[in-house]
Amino acid sequence: EKQGFRHFMLKEIYEQSSVVRMVLETYISNDWTAASTTSPINLSLPAEFYTDLEQVQIVACGTSWHASLVGKYLLEQLAQIPTQVHYASEFRYAPPPLMPNTLIVGVTQSGETADTLSAIAMDKQRRAEKTPQFRPRLLGITNRMQSSLARLVDYTIDIQAGIEIGVAATKTFIAQLVAFYCLALDLAYRRQTLSATQLEQIIGQLWQLPAQIESILEQQERQIEELAHEFTETQDFIFIGRGINYPIALEGALKLKEISYIHAEGYPAGEMKHGPIALLDAKVPVVAIAMPGSVYEKVLSNVQEAKARDSRLIGVAPMHDEHAKEIFDDTLPVPVVDEILSPILSVIPLQLLAYHIAARRGLDVDQPRNLAKSVTVE
Ligand code: F6R
Repeated sequence: EKQGFRHFMLKEIYEQSSVVRMVLETYISNDWTAASTTSPINLSLPAEFYTDLEQVQIVACGTSWHASLVGKYLLEQLAQIPTQVHYASEFRYAPPPLMPNTLIVGVTQSGETADTLSAIAMDKQRRAEKTPQFRPRLLGITNRMQSSLARLVDYTIDIQAGIEIGVAATKTFIAQLVAFYCLALDLAYRRQTLSATQLEQIIGQLWQLPAQIESILEQQERQIEELAHEFTETQDFIFIGRGINYPIALEGALKLKEISYIHAEGYPAGEMKHGPIALLDAKVPVVAIAMPGSVYEKVLSNVQEAKARDSRLIGVAPMHDEHAKEIFDDTLPVPVVDEILSPILSVIPLQLLAYHIAARRGLDVDQPRNLAKSVTVE
């Protein structure tokens, strides 16, 4: 069943290009142009889903919470809709004040995470007897259409990643990201926050992503496997990113700690100087996501601060970028794409890095200690 791969996790990392293609094929029309008169996105959501929508609140845990942070960026920057992301385990016991015309989104690949289910159930209950403006408007983004989450919500987006066996989420994360692009672009179209030309460009680039994921996997796996050999003694890792790639820094750190048991933290790159930089020395490698766009130069200057502390610097950086090559000790090159789409590519080398460091240590990558695939207790 592993189809020649050593672990399910590696197989699932490799499945990501076809997962992205599948989600795009389901929800986005591939012949849409700026001249078209219908929406490029079809999520099969009824009109009342969109009516008077003023804001979005997302609840999730773990990797799904990281996907939700990317989702917030997309919903706010593309569709101009105020969005908050909550840890499900926190939301329930300190719920934000009840607001009207709010979409609540539960993001859980398994659809069975107890914290997420209870947060959604609580919100549903507190809205039940209220006036129409406060009525529950609940969306589930999940990989399991037969799950408890799917039964609890009014609307669903099926992320269609296929069963994920590795405990560390990889292909379901990518599929959640694509679902958020679809939701944000759909809302952007309806709210007219993007021009037709902008939409056409983003959609055109989305369709390029599956081939780009394949090329990263083809070109980098060997290099990353070799790089992994150099961290057999490493005890701490820092991951930094900014803007839309800040959640990817968090995700890179979570993947590494889950399966390799190495202490790893992700930070917004600009926060390093406010404290965490005190941790840095030659023994603590820093992995930076430096993708072209609004924060590229800023990330590189944050990386320089780490260089001055002798940290080994690993950069997820644009292909053929001489400036990045000079700064980083190792670069994990990624094709150049519009910043807004970069998380789908920048996460791939980080998944491979975590995988190979853990595999190199001889650990049970698919079933890490202390973790379960779905956490059904609060
Ligand atoms: C990370 C991981 C966990 C899950 C979290 C939520 O690799 O697997 O952090 O993401 O337990 O799970 P779901 O998405 O099923 O709610």
